[in-house]
Amino acid sequence: MEVIIRETQQDAVDLTALLLRDLLSSKPHAVLGLATGRTMEGVYRRLVEMHLGAGLDFSLCRTFNLDEYIGLPRGDVGSYRHYMYVHLFQHVNIDLRNTHLPRGESDDLEGECVRYEAAIAECGGIDLQLLGIGRTGHIGFNEPLSAMYSRTRAKALSPETLRQNAGLFDPPSRMPRRALTMGVGTILEARRCLLLATGEEKAGIIAQAVEGPVTSMISATALQLHPRCTVIVDAPAAAHLQNQDYYRWVFENEPEWDGYQ
Ligand code: GLP
Repeated sequence: MEVIIRETQQDAVDLTALLLRDLLSSKPHAVLGLATGRTMEGVYRRLVEMHLGAGLDFSLCRTFNLDEYIGLPRGDVGSYRHYMYVHLFQHVNIDLRNTHLPRGESDDLEGECVRYEAAIAECGGIDLQLLGIGRTGHIGFNEPLSAMYSRTRAKALSPETLRQNAGLFDPPSRMPRRALTMGVGTILEARRCLLLATGEEKAGIIAQAVEGPVTSMISATALQLHPRCTVIVDAPAAAHLQNQDYYRWVFENEPEWDGYQ
């Protein structure tokens, strides 16, 4: 794992978008693992700007989202399919047939999870998985006690997650209590993981995720086991990290990051 600390939220968002751009430019057929949440809105805004301004091409890429609520009608404004359409898909030249989210409206949820895993495998696996982090330390909707080897499945959302996301529903009581999510094991199979967290409210959980012991109580700690995981944080989200100087030193000295300083 490596940790990159950028001063501002915008700097952290911009670096994340640049890494996605560079992957798409070097590998137009890339398979992207996408995430939702407020943190990602800025990343998608930058990608849209790169498409409109510099012609960043999405026409050949394939995308798989981490998760989707269970039980919302397809296209519901609270669904992650709708989020992706509003924030990214409708603005770029992506082929919607190449965009995948678990179908939370399916009446065969187990079958849907098997189908989703098979679809990822058929595309050759995920090149880069974008991740946010919830207050419980979840990645996707892998709530506390999610097994490290878990696969795509239905999960009950924790009370903390309900509190975190209910405000995005009108009325908040419309928020589903369950979701389909890639498992921790599914996420760990991505060739690269990129976790973005910004803001002081993420500082505590980021310190646990990066520097704490690996535990299924905090699924983001599983990323410590991944051979190629980059965590990008702004200064407020980095505030509780013990080894900030070391992370900054690595970023300044690794040739890989030369063009990104
Ligand atoms: C939801 C998603 C997570 C995401 C989290 C962060 O819970 N299922 O994948 O990481 O939101 O949300 P925010 O960026 O709004 O803090």
